[in-house]
Amino acid sequence: TIPHPLNIAVAGTGYVGLVSGVCMAHRGHHVTCVDVDVKKVTMMQQGISPIYEQDLEELMYLNKERITYTTDYKSAYKNAEAIFIGVGTPEQPDGSADLSYIATVARQIAETVEKDCLVVVKSTVPVGTNDKVEQFIKDFLPRDGENDILGKHKQIKIEVASNPEFLAQGTAVRDTLEAPRIIIGTNSKTAEETLKKIYEPFGLPIVSVSRRSAEMVKYASNDFLALKISYMNDIANLCELVGADIQDVSVGMGFDSRIGSKFLNAGIGYGGSCFPKDTKALEYLAKQNGYELRTVKAAIDVNKDQKIVLYKKARKRLITFNGLKVAVLGLAFKPGTDDLREAPSLENVPLLLEQGADVYAYDPVGVDNFKKRFPETMTESLGRHGKGSIRYVESPEEALEGANVCFIFTEWGEVKDVKPEEYVRLMRTPLVYDGRNIYCVEDMKKVGVEYYSIGRKQ
Ligand code: UGA
Repeated sequence: TIPHPLNIAVAGTGYVGLVSGVCMAHRGHHVTCVDVDVKKVTMMQQGISPIYEQDLEELMYLNKERITYTTDYKSAYKNAEAIFIGVGTPEQPDGSADLSYIATVARQIAETVEKDCLVVVKSTVPVGTNDKVEQFIKDFLPRDGENDILGKHKQIKIEVASNPEFLAQGTAVRDTLEAPRIIIGTNSKTAEETLKKIYEPFGLPIVSVSRRSAEMVKYASNDFLALKISYMNDIANLCELVGADIQDVSVGMGFDSRIGSKFLNAGIGYGGSCFPKDTKALEYLAKQNGYELRTVKAAIDVNKDQKIVLYKKARKRLITFNGLKVAVLGLAFKPGTDDLREAPSLENVPLLLEQGADVYAYDPVGVDNFKKRFPETMTESLGRHGKGSIRYVESPEEALEGANVCFIFTEWGEVKDVKPEEYVRLMRTPLVYDGRNIYCVEDMKKVGVEYYSIGRKQ
């Protein structure tokens, strides 16, 4: 038990919504998770997490007395003291964020709440969106005059605060329970107090700023990390040309606490649902305001090229992939998740198929999602994939058996466990392009693997 358990509703049960909801319940609050997807809600009611995330199901089980899952937003919002919005803000073709899900929830809140409540925007939203959410709510409040809550004769008061989320997929639960800081963005004392009550049992540092600053902290943080990675990828490409080793360089840099040792790993580019989307969204926001955000634009450009840097190298070496057996190890955008959004595999596999490769793909959890985009086929000339074919296998070894070339796109433990000599034993020609620098160059060379990685001497 905690001093101030609150009734909290959470809209959206994706990574942000579900993990936040479950963690708030774990810290003693009463939480109702709302989602429009009946299938997802039924799964959660049975204790099954609709997303693959370490520790999540265990916490769902441990706190089942304090969490309800429902599609009935009315029952959830009616008496909530705080409603967290954690619905998606997907990227639109012009790079801007699609706020339609947020608008829908705001409207539902306005039409439903029956007592004072705090609306907390957790989704990543462009600067100024919280103001819009407040306006949406105001626009959709019942017009009978009695509930003129944001006007002069208020009966109930709905305030809107920003509380961006910094969890990363794969470590979402730990990131939430042990966050380095909680950002609270509001210009209202009452809202600040409510949020402090919610986060008090977490025992984490709280930084209170204005609403617009809180919105910006989120974008500026993600884009900074994206910049950091793209910078390292840029330097890695130069290292190759001048005979330096990016891993040694990054170790050397990381000792300087002003730089920090994290997120200095060069590779085949950042993916996921956040960095690609948030870099483009901030660039778009800048453009809208008549400003060109040149640093972020550079990060986006570098990342685009980086994703196919190994493909290009391999193509030069092999001339064509036509009829070659290509082992692909790792499909997910990073280990610990089945998420494929903006994953380098999605750029490379179609190129390989177009070139006529027979792809044998392995991923410990991402296969089902990948199959939806690229159904298994081993027949030639399927127009949809050009000339090549794709088959999914159960182990890295199965993918490597008889392969002419191997690409590593995700640094899964299962892939790292493959010993250098296995490539020689299993592959027809031990030619490996490693986009995650998981092997020591010398170890690969010693056993006879022709090994190419990122930013290191071959
Ligand atoms: C990222 C941020 O790390 C979270 O703080 C943030 O809350 C989240 O976005 C979000 O906005 O929701 P996530 O996208 O889950 O989290 O994953 P990261 O671990 O940050 O990795 C992103 C990409 O960067 C991956 O493709 C990863 O392989 C790549 N990366 C990461 C590198 O290439 N090098 C590195 O050194 C680190």
